[in-house]
Amino acid sequence: MHVVIINGSPRAQKYSNTEKIIASFAKGLSERGASFETYAVSNRESWERIRDAYIKNEEILIALPLYVECVPGLLLEFLETLPKKDECTRLSFLLQSGFAEGCQLRCGEDFLRKLPGYLGVRYGGCLVKGGNFGIRFLDEEKQKQATKPYQAMGGLFAEGDGFFRDEAKKFTGPEYFPLPMRLLMQFIFQTFAKKTFRKAAASWGCNTPLDEKVWETNPYRE
Ligand SMILES: Cc1cc2nc3c(=O)[nH]c(=O)nc-3n(C[C@H](O)[C@H](O)[C@H](O)COP(=O)(O)O)c2cc1C
Repeated sequence: MHVVIINGSPRAQKYSNTEKIIASFAKGLSERGASFETYAVSNRESWERIRDAYIKNEEILIALPLYVECVPGLLLEFLETLPKKDECTRLSFLLQSGFAEGCQLRCGEDFLRKLPGYLGVRYGGCLVKGGNFGIRFLDEEKQKQATKPYQAMGGLFAEGDGFFRDEAKKFTGPEYFPLPMRLLMQFIFQTFAKKTFRKAAASWGCNTPLDEKVWETNPYRE
């Protein structure tokens, strides 16, 4: 199996969590005898090369972060440039995010499930996992530890069933956290986190409240 892996994050490769996840996933692929080539949409100059690889290959994996509950805008823009192909090509996804509950990623997953149909190709499933906010802030050794579970998923993918096997479904972890944990997180977000966000915004020159409902105060609203 030869896999074309496309990093769908708009973040520069050097800082991208997806990039580190891909590295671990690809290690798993190699261990099981699969080969791969990698690309990143963050560099617009490489779009033509990525399109070319998409056209010439039949096993495509797009690894992407969840941005505002769905697919990053830059990736959507790139996807619009792809030509239609047929069902000999299989398109699979690795969707990862900051927040850890599986439910956070389901809207994005639903969109991705429909995407291969628009492109005329076959769907290979979507590996879904959150809890990845911090990867890029870790040192190299800790990054390797944090992304190690993706290596096993690379090995699984190399076996040929996409992400439809039970191991891939279980990889997501809990769909919802238990109630006490949710309450604790709500408390943290309403207090300490809110204060930190406000401070950061002020340091960037923002002096309107972060929860301002601009649509209510807009004088041009009908
Ligand atoms: C603009 C933006 C929007 C984001 N929106 C979400 C979100 O809706 N839900 C979530 O769980 N994480 C969200 N995240 C966190 C990213 O999914 C997470 O940090 C991911 O690992 C980033 O991967 P990257 O570094 O390859 O872009 C967002 C991050 C950014 C920068």
